[in-house]
Amino acid sequence: MKEQLQHAVNDQIRAEFESAYIYLAASARFDAQGLNGFAHWMRTQWEEETVHALKLYDFLLQRDAQVELQALSKPELSFETPLEAFEMVLEHEQYITGRIYELYQQAVDARDYPLQNLMQWFIDEQVEEEDSVRAILDDLRLVGDSGATLLLLDRELAARQLDPGA
Ligand code: FEO
Repeated sequence: MKEQLQHAVNDQIRAEFESAYIYLAASARFDAQGLNGFAHWMRTQWEEETVHALKLYDFLLQRDAQVELQALSKPELSFETPLEAFEMVLEHEQYITGRIYELYQQAVDARDYPLQNLMQWFIDEQVEEEDSVRAILDDLRLVGDSGATLLLLDRELAARQLDPGA
């Protein structure tokens, strides 16, 4: 596997772990606010991001390429309300989607077919992730200032389970 691509995949491992870290921090904040369903959703997302990072990690090992784990940035949360939190999540996932497209293009340019296949999986995953976040954002916009409805949504999010295909 070309060295430049190995670096790019290692950097994406960092980005996935940093995503995980952001969601874990968000989970703690929701827990402190008593919104346990939102906290659970964020914690499940933390788990999914860890799965993504390990998918890339295992891919490097299978290709006999070098794994170089990098330092992670401290997560900075720029939200107070659930609506602001999910706006942050959507923006973050769109950033990750952009990174995945970039990595896919690098794999195409290098004619690295196995990496292209893997990136196709991530491209599909990003479509699903952005879609589910948009659905929650739609709900949050409908909820508005209603505390009672927010609690119902909190209960709904408490039911989220880790996607086995994630
Ligand atoms: Fe691993 Fe949320 O993208």
